[in-house]
Amino acid sequence: MKKIAFLTSGGDAPGMNAVIRSVVRSCAYHNIIPVGIYNGFDGLIKGDFIEMNARSVKGILNKGGTILKTARSEEFRTKDGRKKAYENVKKQDIDGLIVIGGDGTFTGGLVFHNEFKIPIIGIPVTIDNDIFGTSHTIGYDTALNTVVEVIDKIRDTASSHNRLFFIEVMGRDAGHIALNTGIGAGAEEILIPEEDLGLERLIESLKRSKATGKSSSIVVVAEGDKSGKSVFELKDYVEEHLPGYEARVSVLGHLQRGGSPSCFDRVLASRMGVKAVDSLLENKTNLMVGLSDGLIKLTPLDKAIKGNTNINKELLRVSDIMSI
Ligand code: F6P
Repeated sequence: MKKIAFLTSGGDAPGMNAVIRSVVRSCAYHNIIPVGIYNGFDGLIKGDFIEMNARSVKGILNKGGTILKTARSEEFRTKDGRKKAYENVKKQDIDGLIVIGGDGTFTGGLVFHNEFKIPIIGIPVTIDNDIFGTSHTIGYDTALNTVVEVIDKIRDTASSHNRLFFIEVMGRDAGHIALNTGIGAGAEEILIPEEDLGLERLIESLKRSKATGKSSSIVVVAEGDKSGKSVFELKDYVEEHLPGYEARVSVLGHLQRGGSPSCFDRVLASRMGVKAVDSLLENKTNLMVGLSDGLIKLTPLDKAIKGNTNINKELLRVSDIMSI
């Protein structure tokens, strides 16, 4: 292997730059030329490449976002697009490709490998933590800390005004952020995509809270929660069925994807980048690096894409007990 290329694709997450730094420095360590690709798979199609060296990634470890930019490429979904991408890979003498992102990114990488046999390794980066084969995706820990900090602030104003707050957090398909930040910030109820807790139960729980002397409450709602109601509809529903509560909504949105990565995410990104380069050097392909029982391990990319990351039911029980 003489040249390894890498791209960031899909939704960004804190720690993407730390991954880029790790991949670049691992390449430099092994005397391999690191080649960054701008704008995800779109950059692969357009030949938007940059040769890097150990110094190109100075000062980015603590920065959110991705210096390579990220995109969701429609053209890469077409055979023509992928053919153009392969021509660039050949022209640049790229020997292996590291794809940094979530399951959509891995799917793109796998299709590309199946057609053109270029070795591919995936690194899981998404705040949603919804990738099979790793207990933590890069960016997830930072997002949890960001959300908890914001909910703490909302609680200050909620309790000053005796209000009920519905706080929407990210997670179109996965409730990991909602469940963990809900417990971490002491929410009374947590609504997630994986479990239908029922609106009756929500009303009962809020009634009970009020009856036992709580003057304000926080309900954390994942974007894609199973009730099918938006956070605004939930607020209206509760105001209608539980008069006496003054309710407000706060949608945290994309602030959850930004900011400086936590120490945990920086270390994880550094470890995964090293393992990804090592794996290509060992002629491995179609694998994702992941964290399992504290160790960096490899999972077949197709399993990482298809596998489910189940919600930890113990956390549901803990949340129930804590909100008594
Ligand atoms: O990064 C994953 C995610 O945060 C989802 O939870 C969310 O639904 C989605 O990205 C939104 O991303 P975008 O606004 O970039 O389409």
